[in-house]
Amino acid sequence: MTIKEIFDAMSYGPAPESNAEAKDWLARHAAAFGHFIDGQFTKPAAGFATRNPATGETLATVTQGTAADVATAVAAARRAQPKWAALSGHQRAKYLYALARLTQKHARLLAVLETMDNGKPIRESRDIDLPLVSRHFYYHAGLAQLAPAELPDHAPLGVVGAVIPWNFPLLMLAWKVAPALAAGNTIVLKPAEYTPLTALLFAEISREAGLPKGVLNIVTGDGDTGAALVAAPVDKIAFTGSTSVGKAIRRATAGTGKALTLELGGKSPYIVFDDADIDSAIEGLVDAIWFNQGQVCCAGSRLLVQEGIAPRFHEKLKRRMDGLRIGDPLDKCIDVGAVVDPIQLATITGMVDASEGEIYRADTPLPAQGCFYPPTLITGLSSASRLMQEEIFGPVLVSMTFRTPAEAVELANNTRYGLAATVWTENVNLALDIAPKLKAGVVWVNATNLFDAAAGFGGLRESGFGREGGWEGLMAYLKPRASGKPLKPAAPFPEPATPEAPALDRTAKLFIGGKQARPDGGYSRPVWSPKGRLLGHAGLGNRKDIRNAVEAAHAAKGWAKTTAHARAQILYYMAENLSARAEEFARRLRDLTGRSSGEAEVAQSIDTLFTYAAWADKYDGAAKSVPIRGVALAMHEPCGVIAALCPDDAPLLGLVSLMAPAIAMGNTCVLVPSDPFPLAATDFYQVLETSDVPAGVVNIVTGSHAELAKPLAGHMDIDALWSFSSSPVSKLVEEESATNLKRTWVNHGKATAFPLAPRSALAQATEVKTIWVPYGE
Ligand code: NAI
Repeated sequence: MTIKEIFDAMSYGPAPESNAEAKDWLARHAAAFGHFIDGQFTKPAAGFATRNPATGETLATVTQGTAADVATAVAAARRAQPKWAALSGHQRAKYLYALARLTQKHARLLAVLETMDNGKPIRESRDIDLPLVSRHFYYHAGLAQLAPAELPDHAPLGVVGAVIPWNFPLLMLAWKVAPALAAGNTIVLKPAEYTPLTALLFAEISREAGLPKGVLNIVTGDGDTGAALVAAPVDKIAFTGSTSVGKAIRRATAGTGKALTLELGGKSPYIVFDDADIDSAIEGLVDAIWFNQGQVCCAGSRLLVQEGIAPRFHEKLKRRMDGLRIGDPLDKCIDVGAVVDPIQLATITGMVDASEGEIYRADTPLPAQGCFYPPTLITGLSSASRLMQEEIFGPVLVSMTFRTPAEAVELANNTRYGLAATVWTENVNLALDIAPKLKAGVVWVNATNLFDAAAGFGGLRESGFGREGGWEGLMAYLKPRASGKPLKPAAPFPEPATPEAPALDRTAKLFIGGKQARPDGGYSRPVWSPKGRLLGHAGLGNRKDIRNAVEAAHAAKGWAKTTAHARAQILYYMAENLSARAEEFARRLRDLTGRSSGEAEVAQSIDTLFTYAAWADKYDGAAKSVPIRGVALAMHEPCGVIAALCPDDAPLLGLVSLMAPAIAMGNTCVLVPSDPFPLAATDFYQVLETSDVPAGVVNIVTGSHAELAKPLAGHMDIDALWSFSSSPVSKLVEEESATNLKRTWVNHGKATAFPLAPRSALAQATEVKTIWVPYGE
């Protein structure tokens, strides 16, 4: 090429990054790795090869972790944990700081190894993944320093089992290891089978940081190894990966008492309004769907573009796609690298080839060999099409048009996922009107795929639950210091041999949609006092009653839009009305339970209503200081419909303690009162009826906890289910909740002190939505 030709074409020449250092590192280990357990590498054993997807070259062999390997690693982590937790926050902070410094120091080697193992462009591993990794350790060094003073009532969980995917191997490791260690836990981590190498290099780096042995353990292997870790005696599973495996893990950990966070898939909408800065929106789209070959859980994979600009937008987009450079990921000029593995490539190819849409593939040369797939745009699909609904996890964008903002929101939310969403418009009113309406854990305004350790990341619905990053992320690695004693199932008082002559029949109904309703089955059961007096009958709700109550709760969702001040006023009003009838309630509680503490329970219930009335307008979100031109707003949003099996032994206080935080935060609820002592709750209808609570905000279905737990847990339209029942239903609740991955909060058969710690209850009643908005210079 002559100089003139070079100037005319202005094309990029190759700018390869050297992989010599990475090759040396592999050679030093004879390209064969064991696990990293208790501060040592084990001898390499039978396993599999990990390959460079861009070339097909075998990089190394790694060991397939057996259940015995997992057990050894968990035992090492268990031994190391008390000492690690006993360190001061400052001492732990110093280790995390050392990890931050060392990941920076070895950034080039880590980035090159990541690119070789995963296929992602070096530009990304060097400029995005690695800086975010170091930032994560720095940020968590800070949390380690501050946590003991800021969260004195919390303790580490113990040993964390982490299972991570292959799309951001080292970054996902950092997202799990940093908070786990900062909180005083030790960890056993299983990297994905396609990309184990940077985790092993990180293990070596942890030795350089002087991390005590057993604090960090890495066991390599495939899904079987992951399943063995899930089954091992750990205290928490932190998982990132596919929704199907997430659901399997939800079922496998049900009833074990293991804490769980799931970061799963998505089909995130990328909404472009007709007043958007189109060139910026196109550049954003390149980052949304062609970053990391589209193998990003929050990829903006579903373009929704306003009809008027759609033809022009698609035209410009195609031109931009044609300009993307695909090829050797180690070449610094490359935009799109290799897909992680031939299996993933075959999946993407199969899904696209089966599509009925109009397919546009970028007109750009593909390397002759390796796992490459061209940037692709598919139009002409309906919102129900498979590719509109399912995660492709490749460089494939699907596009639809919309006419009005309301339609954009409807289409955006028409998915079983709820991970992320992007909005492009120059109209700040429109952006800020749309952001709260999107069902997603993260919303980017006029930007996309921004991440930071300070800003919570995580999803709703079938994208999983839990947040990573920020204080909210740290909380997922801590538990309250106080732990309850085993709870004995509470039984109703039996019918006496010679019952007193019944007074006038009083059969309490259910309370659904603001009205008292007969149970669908028409059944009720007598409720006896301990002295054998018939106190009345309580309705026995069934699956249909639950369905009706959930429908009523959905119909009342406008509650979320009322002001926090208005919600507080209603809670105060309830307290006032309960107070006016305090004596009657105290008597009822004495009659029901035989305990003399009726007055105290009523007084505590009134106090609790005041507490959450007070919190209604004070449980604020935050504006996170993120190192970009913008702020990340952590908004506290209601979960939606919360159902609760109320505690048995505090029939009024238990119900109020669950209802009040739920409705204070804007949720509507379906409550199943104390199973043996339901009549305090049915008396409470009158308080609800006289306190201006809108119909459907609180619904109460009396009945057997054991019978109602299943329809509640399996219900697709319940967003969170809490159980403080003394019936042993925690396992069933967690297991069945896998249907729609609703959030659960259960007592695992342990007694809970009521009233609850308000911040814990408020955190359970809210989702943190992180909204990134441009701000300042
Ligand atoms: P996957 O969910 O099977 O793998 C993720 C991790 O889970 C890996 O470490 C794997 O070894 C482990 N694993 C697999 N089965 C397990 C089990 N039963 N118990 C415990 N751990 C288990 O994802 P895969 O098969 O690699 O990719 C399939 C699809 O999943 C992708 O096409 C994509 O749609 C989605 N995916 C989503 C990710 C996300 O970040 N949301 C990440 C990876 C995959």
